[in-house]
Amino acid sequence: MSVTEEIRRLKKEKNAVLLAHYYVPDEVQEIADFIGDSYYLSKKAAQTQADILVFCGVRFMGESAAILNPGKKVLMPDLSADCAMAHMAEVERIKEMRERYEDLAVVCYINSTAEIKTYSDVCVTSANAVKIVKALPNRNIYFIPDGNLGRYVAEQVPEKHVLLGGGYCPVHAAWTAEDAARAKAEYPGAKFLVHPECTKELLEQADYIGSTSGIIEFAAGDDSREYIIGTEEGVLYELKKQNPDKVFYTLNERQICGDMKLVTLEKIQAVLEHETNEITVTQEMRQQALAPLKRMLELAK
Ligand code: 13P
Ligand code: SF4
Repeated sequence: MSVTEEIRRLKKEKNAVLLAHYYVPDEVQEIADFIGDSYYLSKKAAQTQADILVFCGVRFMGESAAILNPGKKVLMPDLSADCAMAHMAEVERIKEMRERYEDLAVVCYINSTAEIKTYSDVCVTSANAVKIVKALPNRNIYFIPDGNLGRYVAEQVPEKHVLLGGGYCPVHAAWTAEDAARAKAEYPGAKFLVHPECTKELLEQADYIGSTSGIIEFAAGDDSREYIIGTEEGVLYELKKQNPDKVFYTLNERQICGDMKLVTLEKIQAVLEHETNEITVTQEMRQQALAPLKRMLELAK
């Protein structure tokens, strides 16, 4: 039996589902039950009837699924697959900001540790951050960890006073205005679609700014033929699948999140077979981190 067939057999036998982010390798996306961006996957994780969830992504995603699903087993193919940005916020700093500003809402990008979530008022993803910040009654917003997404949100919601965290995605923030200019010169007819984790210089050159699912929806509904994609290269799998007649380019050779690529079919098979690599959070942490995640799901509806 091939690895893929074995995974299918195990999924059926154990009533398991595979959730995969658009950044994991193509062959993993191909076999997943649900593929999507962080927002879609957190919604699916909250709704599933399966007994086991295999989360093909990075740690904060598996952790959020475990928090949203107390009775379920959440397994991760590789426990070391982590998002560097998730650790770029400090509890002490949150406490300081709360003291300094009355009426402060701590808005936490879902790319954060469970501990950071426990100190936050609401979580957001790149797909719903603008909508949620707009809907909050508070004027003062402390947006953590991503300073780039936070700055983009602040520009869309000028009525709010947004204080920015200093975190960043080491993958998205590494692409330069020169990378964008070079790609645009090479593919002059292509539209440039960019994730808001990129720097201001890139966003200024974009034809469209949005989450991974936003980029995919835009390309499907647009009538151009060529696109330069300013996010992790894994999204090209879905873009090409949905738009076989269109052409997609990357900006450069450095559009790879190494942690997402740690997810392999062999590791999925192994964790399903032995039910290893379970993500657990303490009861106390779960209770406290659940509130901002649930508030996100409510406000983003
Ligand atoms: P999405 O919110 O678009 O899924 O992005 C998550 C992420 O990690 C981007 O680097
Ligand atoms: Fe984290 Fe960046 Fe990887 Fe997304 S691409 S998971 S933000 S390190």
